[in-house]
Amino acid sequence: MTDLSHLSADDWDEIKFPRPDTNEFDDVVERALSRRGFLSGVVAFGSGAAVMGTGVGSLLSTTSAARADAHAANFAFDGIPIQTDATIHVPEGYDWNVLARWGDPLFSDAEPFDPVNGIPVASSDRVFGENTDGMELFAVDGKQLIAVNHEYPNIDTNLPNKGENGFTADDVTLLQNIQGVTVMEVAEGADGWEIVIDSPYNRRIHHNTPMTFAGPAAGHDMLKTSADPDGMTVLGTMNNCGSGITPWGTYLTCEENFNGYFGVADPEAEFSASEGFARYGVGAEGRYGYELHQARFDVSREPNEPNRFGWVVEIDPANPDSTPVKRTAMGRFKHENAEVVIAASGQVVVYLGDDERGEYLYKYVSNGTYTEGGSTEGLLDDGKLFVASFNDDMTGTWLELTPETTGMDAGEILIHTRMAASAVGGTTMDRPEWVAVNPVAAQAYVSLTNNKNRGIKANAGGDETPVNGPNPREANNYGQIVRWMPDGDDHAAPGFAWDLFVMAGNPTNQDGLYKGSDNVNSGNLFNSPDGMQIDTTGTVWIQTDGDDSNEDEFDGMGNNQMLAGDPASGEIRRFLTGPNGSEVTGLTWSSDLRTMFVGIQHPGAPFPDGQGALPRSTVVTIKRSDGAAVG
Ligand code: FEO
Ligand code: CA
Ligand code: CA
Repeated sequence: MTDLSHLSADDWDEIKFPRPDTNEFDDVVERALSRRGFLSGVVAFGSGAAVMGTGVGSLLSTTSAARADAHAANFAFDGIPIQTDATIHVPEGYDWNVLARWGDPLFSDAEPFDPVNGIPVASSDRVFGENTDGMELFAVDGKQLIAVNHEYPNIDTNLPNKGENGFTADDVTLLQNIQGVTVMEVAEGADGWEIVIDSPYNRRIHHNTPMTFAGPAAGHDMLKTSADPDGMTVLGTMNNCGSGITPWGTYLTCEENFNGYFGVADPEAEFSASEGFARYGVGAEGRYGYELHQARFDVSREPNEPNRFGWVVEIDPANPDSTPVKRTAMGRFKHENAEVVIAASGQVVVYLGDDERGEYLYKYVSNGTYTEGGSTEGLLDDGKLFVASFNDDMTGTWLELTPETTGMDAGEILIHTRMAASAVGGTTMDRPEWVAVNPVAAQAYVSLTNNKNRGIKANAGGDETPVNGPNPREANNYGQIVRWMPDGDDHAAPGFAWDLFVMAGNPTNQDGLYKGSDNVNSGNLFNSPDGMQIDTTGTVWIQTDGDDSNEDEFDGMGNNQMLAGDPASGEIRRFLTGPNGSEVTGLTWSSDLRTMFVGIQHPGAPFPDGQGALPRSTVVTIKRSDGAAVG
């Protein structure tokens, strides 16, 4: 049997749920090349003239008066070369240090991490989790708290003694404990930043933490199970990928590839995938043995349990006793992150990507309005959900998902959001990863990481995926960042104009569109943009999760990396290279902006502890040697 636990989530889905070869694309190359003229131009928007401040202030939308012409490309560093080694590199004048590694204690009763054997199951929910991803920093009562996601497990690393044996009940418990979310207090002392062990704020939220549903799908028949006949409560949040932060100080964690945790234990059991299971990739074969030991993960026994994952979950980091809430109004899909911005009207706008080949980009707009210090009741429960439709004339429209437009009931639209988006004809995208809103200009960016099926295969719902304006390359192996400017500088508006901020590519050995856009050159090559944040000055920080073979079409790109982009000039410089095998993902800043926190996920080499030790997913701090701000 194929060892499913070792594949990446997208490769696993591709093997388990192959797409039919349905598309004809005779005219694709001609169409794509004809776009090259406008694709090469980077439209100058944005500004560095007005800095809106940090935290809550940076979430507020800007008015046109706050926009100016030039960001001035005042990068404080020289771009660095690629690397293929097992450590981190940053520019001259910057230093990096380890803050938190998988297995580091959050509480003093945790057993110390063993560099060869990892962490025992008894301590597995008392330590920093595995595969760090999205994170946000919160200033609470003079303390600094980081909430950070732990996306998925790495079996060889987390269960180093498992060998070829099946998953035991203890194995499953350990895996469930090391994923989810950590909330931890951090502080800077004489030796740099450290976790504040035993802080009352420290908390692990994992695959068995009780939480509730809210919003229009709460209590829906499709959320009811034998353990929860009301469809109102659920255990756990899973495959926590990107993040978000609200102006009222809560953390949003986004459930991405939840489907792989479900299966059917008994090979003789009757199982046939429903339309919903097929669209979301839920099948009979689980990746991590959950279904063998816990009945709720066996879809032949609890067919509604998978419907209870794939949501955005709100967590209050300031209150360690609070119950996380799954906010169903933002839909169910393979959520990447949740980028919150307050429109001029006060409405809460949340941009949301669904990271799967040929799936969609979404926007939630609250019906109510946010006022600082006012009630936030219902702001993430009562609103409208839209899917993006991009036109080739560089305009676009947000299509509302309603019973009238989709033919589905209100709850089903949220539970089977992908089908609703297909029904209204949204634009299929090249795997929407993070969305980031510029705090100093009315514009938003989405990383479209790559899509080998573009122009070749339909998505899982059978929607054809011909090349189109924002997704202009057949078999797109490099990815691009698309940007949109909402009509009237209003993120709540139904329309927008869009352009391409960058098309990754390789000008050294590729032709045509695969060379990348004009702001890609031999000095800043990268592929597969993924994590993204825009700092208080408007600089776009781009993190990659791509092919780090450094060969063939990826020659010259080296390890995964983090780059900085200027929204006005389009200039992009490489700021950091990660250890080989790793993905760079997750980015936030200290309250004083003098420290940047960056996540290193699934290093392939024994980073950061060195030869003979297990590789450990790690959050590092980066500071300027002169102590100046880094964001
Ligand atoms: Fe978890 Fe799409 O990255
Ligand atoms: Ca990602
Ligand atoms: Ca990715």
